[in-house]
Amino acid sequence: MIANIPHAPLLGRNTFGIDATARELIEYDSVDDLRSLAPMREPFIHIGGGSNLLFAGDCGTTLLHSRIFGVDVIDDRGDYVTVRAGAAVVWDDFVGWAVASRLAGVENLSLIPGETGSAAVQNIGAYGSEVKDVIDSVDTVDMLTGETRRFTKEECGYGYRRSVFKRSDMKRYVITHVTMRLSRRFTPNLSYGALRELTESMTMSPSLSDMRHIVIRMRRSKLPDPATLGNAGSFFTNPIVDRDTAARLKAEYPSMPQYAADDGGVKLSAGWMIERAGWKGRTVGHAGVYDRQALVIVNHGGATGDEVIAVARAVISDVEKMFGVTLTPEVNIIMNSRTSSCSN
Ligand code: EPU
Repeated sequence: MIANIPHAPLLGRNTFGIDATARELIEYDSVDDLRSLAPMREPFIHIGGGSNLLFAGDCGTTLLHSRIFGVDVIDDRGDYVTVRAGAAVVWDDFVGWAVASRLAGVENLSLIPGETGSAAVQNIGAYGSEVKDVIDSVDTVDMLTGETRRFTKEECGYGYRRSVFKRSDMKRYVITHVTMRLSRRFTPNLSYGALRELTESMTMSPSLSDMRHIVIRMRRSKLPDPATLGNAGSFFTNPIVDRDTAARLKAEYPSMPQYAADDGGVKLSAGWMIERAGWKGRTVGHAGVYDRQALVIVNHGGATGDEVIAVARAVISDVEKMFGVTLTPEVNIIMNSRTSSCSN
């Protein structure tokens, strides 16, 4: 079935808690429903759980949202189990199901808000894991032709918070299902320092469900709950700079955290720089920087998208002045113009 909602209220559909409307929202239940909407020649934006987007105002573009649910076991042989999840499955429900089924691979990604389709667009990551580590393939519908297309993991072009699905020329592909390979053998991934420290005091190596609970506790201690304080997680990505820039910054700021990035560059901590620039806990109007994690911008209640953007711009400008590094939003900012290129 297809539901077409004109002037759709968005307040309950974005974790930032921005009160806006969309010109039209279309929800569909199946791959066939989605195919029947093609060809979509007008611009559209596909949304998921609304946990990584910011509406700058009312949205003049058509929004699409999946209601393709379900998790199927495709293959179960030896140590590995291949599962296929619908794009609308709430990501943390999927992680909860995997852990309860004693399947490892996604436990460090516990409690990340959002839906499974967006997880595959964004290559969500936390505590030393990224969803690309378990993705096998991604099924899509081409909204220009109505044809289905499967992307292998390699074709998805995954990198840090990056995939081909974020490219403007690839927006025509809407993800319907994500196929992932989970493991019956569990080895805790303790590569994230604070996780390792927490588990060092345990008498036994953590079990799969221990890991899920430890990660949930850690997230709750660092990140605001959107149910009580509107936010979209990290507002910016951690910038990746070349080695010379990293060395210059290290000489000037010896305590600056730096990490090796996949492509030979150096990843810097945006949160650390924002805190040093004096923004941690600072509020302007109804929006501000979270007082426990400077990478998160929060809505203290009643903020407009423009107020959030004003805080983000001021943060970018101050970090640039102090460190010479330009921060890029991780959150997809959806402008209100019909022709703006918006993202998933
Ligand atoms: N830091 C500060 N001040 C702050 C925040 C961080 O000094 O206010 C320093 C920390 O002390 C640490 C470093 O910055 O040395 C990194 O901080 P943290 O481990 O908290 O992680 P992050 O880089 O700020 C990233 C992800 C998070 C993910 C965590 C844990 C991005 C954009 N963010 O944050 O993901 O949960 O690592 O793996 O990569 C998200 O994407 O929405 C998200 C929450």
